[in-house]
Amino acid sequence: MALNLGDTAPDFTQDSTEGPLSFHAWAGDSWVVLFSHPKDFTPVCTTELGAVAKLKPEFDKRNVKVIGLSVDPATSHAEWAKDIADTQGHALNFPLIADHDRKVADLYGMIHPNASDTLTVRSVFVIDPAKKLRLSLTYPASTGRNFDELLRVIDSLQLTDRHKVATPADWKQGEDVIIVPSVSDEDARKLFPQGWKAERPYLRKIAQPS
Ligand code: BEZ
Repeated sequence: MALNLGDTAPDFTQDSTEGPLSFHAWAGDSWVVLFSHPKDFTPVCTTELGAVAKLKPEFDKRNVKVIGLSVDPATSHAEWAKDIADTQGHALNFPLIADHDRKVADLYGMIHPNASDTLTVRSVFVIDPAKKLRLSLTYPASTGRNFDELLRVIDSLQLTDRHKVATPADWKQGEDVIIVPSVSDEDARKLFPQGWKAERPYLRKIAQPS
């Protein structure tokens, strides 16, 4: 069954490069980025894992744990990890799930049979501390993902959880945000006493709340 935004992210126990792992317990009170890779020893995946290892301090700053998945055993992951460190200049610094029996891939719908019935697509799931699914992305095997974009979405999700605002197209930290449509002008005056710029009655912009 497809996972929809707002659903509880399924729990599982599976082997990983850091030993057997129970997903919800491992996640604890953090946000999580769970992302799948088609297979070990593949070129695009190798660059992606190096890129995430490099960005790990940025995920840490946002209270986000990252965890990869590939449908090969932990022994294979351990060999591949050496290549990742050697070629990308950044060693794996987060767990890589060894989903040899595709238990997690099936649970999260990471196998799209009309693309490949053996390899996972490049899925990304952002899960909040309440274990609710907040974002899902699916990329084809041939396209490496942009992990800065994931940080941007996480910044938006964390901001919009704290304030009744949404973020416009291409928004980045520090730029103006939008008062959500469900807030009436009357309530907006109380929430944002500094006022707003209304480009249309429904398009009310304010500086990013701190
Ligand atoms: C890769 O990770 O390089 C890859 C995997 C499957 C198909 C195409 C590319």
